[in-house]
Amino acid sequence: MSEKDPKIQHLHELRKQAMLGGGEKRIEIQHKKGKLTARERLDLLLDKGSFHELDMFVTHRSHDFGLENNRPLGDGVVTGYGTIDGRLVFVYSQDFTVFGGSLSEAHAEKIIKIMEMAMKNGAPIIGLNDSGGARIQEGVISLGGYAEIFLRNVLASGVVPQISAIMGPCAGGAVYSPAITDFIVMVKDTSYMFITGPEVVKSVTHEEVTFDGLGGAWVHNTKSGVAHFAADTEEDAIFTIQKLLSYIPQNNLEEPPFVPTKDDPNRMDPELNDIVPDNPNKPYDMKEVINRIVDEGEFFEVMPYWAQNIIIGFARLGGHSVGIVAQQPAVLAGVLDIDASVKAARFIRFCDAFNIPLVVFEDVPGYMPGVAQEHGGIIRHGAKILYAFAEATVPKITVITRKSYGGAYCVMNSRHVRADLVFAWPTAEIAVMGPEGAVKIIYKRQLAAAEDPEALKAKLVEEYRQKLANPYIAASRGFVDDVIEPKETRPRLINALEMLRNKRDTNPPKKHGNIPL
Ligand code: HXC
Repeated sequence: MSEKDPKIQHLHELRKQAMLGGGEKRIEIQHKKGKLTARERLDLLLDKGSFHELDMFVTHRSHDFGLENNRPLGDGVVTGYGTIDGRLVFVYSQDFTVFGGSLSEAHAEKIIKIMEMAMKNGAPIIGLNDSGGARIQEGVISLGGYAEIFLRNVLASGVVPQISAIMGPCAGGAVYSPAITDFIVMVKDTSYMFITGPEVVKSVTHEEVTFDGLGGAWVHNTKSGVAHFAADTEEDAIFTIQKLLSYIPQNNLEEPPFVPTKDDPNRMDPELNDIVPDNPNKPYDMKEVINRIVDEGEFFEVMPYWAQNIIIGFARLGGHSVGIVAQQPAVLAGVLDIDASVKAARFIRFCDAFNIPLVVFEDVPGYMPGVAQEHGGIIRHGAKILYAFAEATVPKITVITRKSYGGAYCVMNSRHVRADLVFAWPTAEIAVMGPEGAVKIIYKRQLAAAEDPEALKAKLVEEYRQKLANPYIAASRGFVDDVIEPKETRPRLINALEMLRNKRDTNPPKKHGNIPL
């Protein structure tokens, strides 16, 4: 057939139509809102020329509300597969110019198709969301479509990585598909997530709130902990997805990609020897510790704005991906509270599901005391991080930089919950509680009877510190495998990870555990 054959011409014509989505005018409106179109986003996300679209000719099946006269090709979502940095991914990108990107039965079927292909072929699923939710005219049929997507999200969880970008409104049930996925990237000023919008909120609870105030990128990155990343622009959001993928494997049966590094695996960092202040109550920045240790000082932080007393993120050591979990002594003294536990637990489980070794930097005064925390359920939520560390079978290494007190000692990837190696810096203090608290309790009577209680307390605190608040009692029991100089942390970690490269460990056979949710 020649190019001029009417059948070929017809195909070209249909393709052209599909490419325009809701038409030039609506594309213009989309651009005016500072948003890209579904196809422009895919162009940025995928390697040039790698995108293969599927189901371009799918249309909705509604016969009501005038929809029967308007059946745009593709039905509001562009789906297919392509590559990012040469690695296969399956994608869907909702087209707001077609019925506000709303989800019809046909639209849902397209998404489900690529989700199933991704699971069968072991590649990540990336969803670019920009949708007014369920297609109102289709009623329960569209609700069914959502539920079918949720089911696939759940089945794919832990099998292939799932990443959601929120690039417009995301209302109603539409938020639950992203919520089940592993990572959510939101774009500042143009994306929203909420169960019900400001109007419904006003009528039910009489609260007046803007779209942004209710469910904008900042709210979900700082207050609710729903989103993992806040991007300044759509381009930035797409770059975040690409970067994230570089640390993680294609599926649960693969290893993360190896990225050769020029950073010497034997590099020592003498400045680390001075990073922990002499005064145990003085903060320091754990991010600096991390940056000084990992390959080329490159740490890709996840959830950087929420529960900042704990740090999570990806880095490489000797070219291999690791998931890092660390206390931040510079925020709330690095205490473990409800949000910190929840934040770390989900990250630990992601790393464990996808064969990413865990490296922990610990400086924790304990769990957060207080009525708000107790009534908020810190017993239940605080158990999540414990559960996640204990259950994980990937290589697990802990470096205790300073405090490791009480329950937090047990929980923070101690040897007792199957850490493979625990290193401590000479500055480590490992005990049931801090010297001040301990002295007040065990010497209560002596202090009350003392002529100069302050002087006695100071003496006893120092005695306690010498006797108990150091790494050597733990090391004498083998709970700490070695006390190391801070400067040698990088080579020791890289060597340990090499030793653990073929680690095999399993949990008892079961349907699944019952994490305290
Ligand atoms: C059908 C929809 C739609 C929807 C938007 N449109 N949402 N069509 N079903 N859910 C259409 C509009 O009619 C309009 O068409 C076009 O998309 C653009 O919408 P606008 O309102 O003009 O855009 P904007 O002002 O930017 O507002 C966007 C919006 C708003 C905030 C998303 O449209 C909105 O509030 N939509 C409804 C959101 C919602 O409540 N969805 C249902 C949630 S419940 P025309 O032709 O006029 O340009 C849900 C249940 C799932 O999703 C449950 C699963 C368990």
